[in-house]
Formats: sequence, structure tokens, C-alpha cells
Amino acid sequence: MLTIAAMQAARARLAGDPHRPRWHFAPPGNWLNDPNGLIQWRGTYHLCYQYHPSGPLWGDIHWGHATSRDLTHWDDAPLALAPTPGGPDADGCWSGVAVDDGGVPTVIYTGVAAGQERPCLATGDDDLIVWRKYPGNPVIAAPPPGLDLVGFRDHALWRQDGQWQMAIGAGVRGVGGAALRYTSPDLRAWAFAGPLCAGDGGATGEMWECPDFFALGDRHALVVSTLPARRVLGMLGDYDGARFVPQQIAPLDAGRAFYAPQSCRDDRGRRIMIGWLPEARPDADLVAAGWAGMMSAPREIMARPEGGLGMAPAAEISALRRQGWHATDLPLAPATPLPCPLIPGGSFEARLTLAPGAARRIALTLYAGGEPLTTIAVDRAAQTLAVPAGDGQTTMPLALAPGADLRLVALVDRSVIEVFANDRACATQRVYPANPDDLRLVLSATGDAATVRALDAWELRAG
Ligand code: FRU
Repeated sequence: MLTIAAMQAARARLAGDPHRPRWHFAPPGNWLNDPNGLIQWRGTYHLCYQYHPSGPLWGDIHWGHATSRDLTHWDDAPLALAPTPGGPDADGCWSGVAVDDGGVPTVIYTGVAAGQERPCLATGDDDLIVWRKYPGNPVIAAPPPGLDLVGFRDHALWRQDGQWQMAIGAGVRGVGGAALRYTSPDLRAWAFAGPLCAGDGGATGEMWECPDFFALGDRHALVVSTLPARRVLGMLGDYDGARFVPQQIAPLDAGRAFYAPQSCRDDRGRRIMIGWLPEARPDADLVAAGWAGMMSAPREIMARPEGGLGMAPAAEISALRRQGWHATDLPLAPATPLPCPLIPGGSFEARLTLAPGAARRIALTLYAGGEPLTTIAVDRAAQTLAVPAGDGQTTMPLALAPGADLRLVALVDRSVIEVFANDRACATQRVYPANPDDLRLVLSATGDAATVRALDAWELRAG
């Protein structure tokens, strides 16, 4: 049993690691992947996560658990779920979600045993600390007959017409990713109701992991994490109560460093989304570090007036601001990149409003000392936000109306940079500076000059 004291001791041991984030949630040592069971319960946010409690590589998956009142300061809670020897989750408690079932906190997760993936249920006490597994697990004995699936895991839950509805991530062999819909009166007895949505292979992938499905105003959104590309797709469209028809499909992040996100609606009516930020370094480095994986900044996801989904950092992050810098009307000529202030500690926010003029490309490069670590760029001709990937790049769409300002928010926290452009596009990258005190953002323009109307930067810290 991993006690809170042991978790705190592990955090203290790792405190000197220059790659540990200062305020993004990271595990108390060892391996973390997907966020799970994200819910706000009586004002407190609960974030569970895929966790290997005894090693820094993926394996023996439990549910870790942390709580927060403000989405930025997290307290460790006891592990929520552990595999039960001989049970339907003997080989792992994989991803799942939490709901309020008439006052009873309830999770549905993927139990894995002997190569089978099946939904299991557990209920929590009033504080969501002690979880009891349902003796009738698994709540679905097998995938729908007649479907040849490459996977059958991860869940979304919602209420509709007095019934529970569930989407399960799947992939139909030789066809493509799918989200399968089930209905239930009580979260325990389920009937298959056909596909909620299905892809056709190609760009939407062979398998959809971690479906997240929710209403946004009068539209609906389906977010899936696709294999084999390991990219997250966001779809905005219409739901008729049985099938979801996407109207817009686009990556939710320009890169591959944001995966398996989960969202919840909170008491301010916001859709808060958190994703897993996997490491981008070899396993040997994870073993040496003793921990792996962290969560993204909490993001607010919305339907954009110009179409499609958009994301912006949750407003709570501004409460972490310390010392600040402010400048206005700075010219940005192609030959003279503009360094942002050097903010010791390696955790900061930079907000830039640019009049891009005729510049073809506007880039933010993160340097450690003199070494460029990564470059996140807005390509105006291609209408994309791009991050480097191997020898090339990966992108997501970012169309700027002619004459429109480009508004960039960069959140840097030692081994991560997240860039948000016009509350629309996001780009996340993991970076490994030798010394986080050296981290500095440099802005550059290609093709023609741009103007920085405003530059604001703050140190961010949780303590
Ligand atoms: C996504 C995922 C899920 C699965 C979990 C296992 O990263 O592969 O599909 O439930 O991680 O840890």
C-alpha cells in the first residue's frame, strides 16, 4: 500500500530534478499516463490517472488519485483502484471515467485480464477516497458479437432520456476506429445500441482510444485518441440521440505530446480538459529519472464562433503569476529575432499580441542557453500551427482572418511548453533543458516584418 507519506517523500526526493514541472501535475515518482475519472465533486476537482506505482515504465496499471480546489494545486490522495488477483481487472485497471449516479460517485473503467478488455464499475465513498468494486464485474461480458475488433476499451458516459449512455473506444479490423454506444438504466446492465460514430481508417486511424463525448452549446463534440498515429482528433458535429455526425474534424493539438485527454463540466459551466503529456526521451532516461509522464495545463475547450473546437488555458493559471514584464509596440524584423525576458526557474507564461503584417511565418523558439530546444510556428500561407516531429513536422489548422491579430500564450514549465494561438490551436512539446534557469523564448518572423503590439510575461509558481 502506497501511503500519502510515501508519496510526499517521493516528491521531496525528486524536487531537485530540473525536469520536474513546478505546477503541472506530475506523479509522485514512477509512471503516469492517461487522466481518468476527472470530475468536480462538491467543489473539489478529482483527477485520477493511469499509474504504475512501482516503476517508471508502463506496467501493472492502477488508478492514482489527486484532488484540487483550483486546478493548479494538487494534493495526493490514496490510490483509487488496484488490480484484483483473479478478477476481471487482474492485469490492469485501465482508463475510465467518473459520474455522479444520483449522489453516488461511480467510475467505469476498463478491466484487463487474460488479454480481454471489459468495462468494470466501482463506487466511491462520500469523499471519493475509498472505492468498492461492483461484485458483478465486468458489466459487459464481451464486445458485441459479429464485430472483429482490434480494441474495446476506455469510456465516455452521459445521461439521456432517463437512461445512461456509454461510448466505448474500439477499432474494427480492416475498417477503422469507432466509438460504440451502449445504454443502461443503472450503469450495470448494458445493451449495445450500435456505433455512436465510426471512421473509415485513413487519417482517422485504426483504433480510437479514450473517447470523450459531450455537448457544447447546441452542438456535440467527440474527442478520440487515434492509433497508430497517436494523435488526438477533435470532432464537432450533431448528435440525434443515437449517432454523432461530425461536421469538422481536426487535430486537437499540433503535436503528439498531448494524448488521451478527458474533460468534465464544472460548476462554472466550463468544459475543462486535461491530457497526458508523455515523455519524449528514451526509457533509460525514465529509469534514471524515476518518474515519467505529466498532465497538461487545465484547458477550457469550446466551440469557436468561426467553426471547430478551440482551447485556452484555464483562467485559474493566472493566479500563479509572480513577477511580471510588460512591453508594447516592438518591431519584429526578419533579421532581428526578439528575445522574451529571461525568467529564472524555468516556469513562466508569455502572452504576445502580434499584428503579423505580411510576415509569412511567426515562430516561437525555446532556447536553453544558446541551444534551441524546439520551435512552434504559425505558417500563414499553409494556415497551420506546426511543431517539429522527427525530420519533419506535425500541424493543426490555424486560419487567421486577413488583418487579424495573432494572440499567442506560451506556458513553459521546465520540461514542457504549451502554446495556444487565438484560443483555437494548441501545440505541446516536451523539452529537456540541462538548466531550466536558462530557458528563454525568442520570437521571430520570416518573409516580412510584424509588430508585437503587446508582450507580457510572468514567472509562474504554485508555492
Ligand atoms: C491510452 C491507453 C488507453 C488504455 C490505457 C492503458 O494511452 O492505451 O487506451 O486504457 O492507456 O494504460
